[in-house]
Amino acid sequence: PRVAVIGGGANSEHDVSLASATAVRAALPAASYDVVPLTIPRSGGWRDGNDRPLGLLGAAAVLSSCDVVFPVVHGCGGEDGTIAALCALAGLPCVGSPAATGATAMDKQLTKLVAASVGIAVAAGAVLTTADAADHVWAGPVVVKPVTAGSSQGVSLVEHPDELERAVKEAFAHGDRVLVEQVVHGREIDVAVLGTADGSREVPPPLEIVGPGVFDYATKYGGAADLRVPADVTSGERAQLTDAAVRMYDALGCRGLARIDFFLTADGPVLLEVNTMPGLTEHSQAPRMFAAAGVPYADLLDRMVRDALG
Ligand code: DAL
Ligand code: MG
Repeated sequence: PRVAVIGGGANSEHDVSLASATAVRAALPAASYDVVPLTIPRSGGWRDGNDRPLGLLGAAAVLSSCDVVFPVVHGCGGEDGTIAALCALAGLPCVGSPAATGATAMDKQLTKLVAASVGIAVAAGAVLTTADAADHVWAGPVVVKPVTAGSSQGVSLVEHPDELERAVKEAFAHGDRVLVEQVVHGREIDVAVLGTADGSREVPPPLEIVGPGVFDYATKYGGAADLRVPADVTSGERAQLTDAAVRMYDALGCRGLARIDFFLTADGPVLLEVNTMPGLTEHSQAPRMFAAAGVPYADLLDRMVRDALG
């Protein structure tokens, strides 16, 4: 089959998406797939595999010439369901979650509401708009983050009231709503779920992000992250994490691969966020978890595409 692999994206995760898409294009089994690269530049629009600009109609023509679309675009304008929506309108199979799921998961506040509705714990917090940003009353350390952004961009851990104003301002640089949440004390554990239309839900061993401080953009992509898979958790903890991840996956209506991130606290897992198009280089968290379960990177990608092809 011909598979359009879209990378980049007009958002702050552009470079991360390019790395993911480059890795996906190289690893999709050449015997099975004819890869057609497309890139969304940082400033928006579309480019073909030779970096030539394509208008939307040109991009649509390329997409329509393919059997399936693989949108390896993290963040807004991709993972938020916009590409899934374009494919749905064009009648093209698309790898991953449907549009409504991507849109909901990209919104950290809506995601918390869904989690709470199926009994999954979330951090206590409030959403600020630009109009009420000044009204926030200091009640102890908080995490400040944009409601919609990925790769920890615009996220700050605020331990002193003097730092709050700068943190809120930085988060507002990424969007018009900002979440201020109580700090959750726990181990940061990621859980991957690979689901198919027939209801199978495969959950490899979880991964722990070990390290001092916040798992921020510099730690994520500067090579300093210490990712441990399988995470050193008890079988009871693993069962709790798996159960919460699958419940969240199903409550959101995810499809294909999702990575669901938690803090594992003394009272059990607390949901951090859901990524419907998680980092997808061979060394990213979800591919590492599947490798630990005996599913090589190329097989994982192949299964994702085959599920979309139906
Ligand atoms: N948002 C980044 C790409 C991740 O989920 O890994
Ligand atoms: Mg994310």
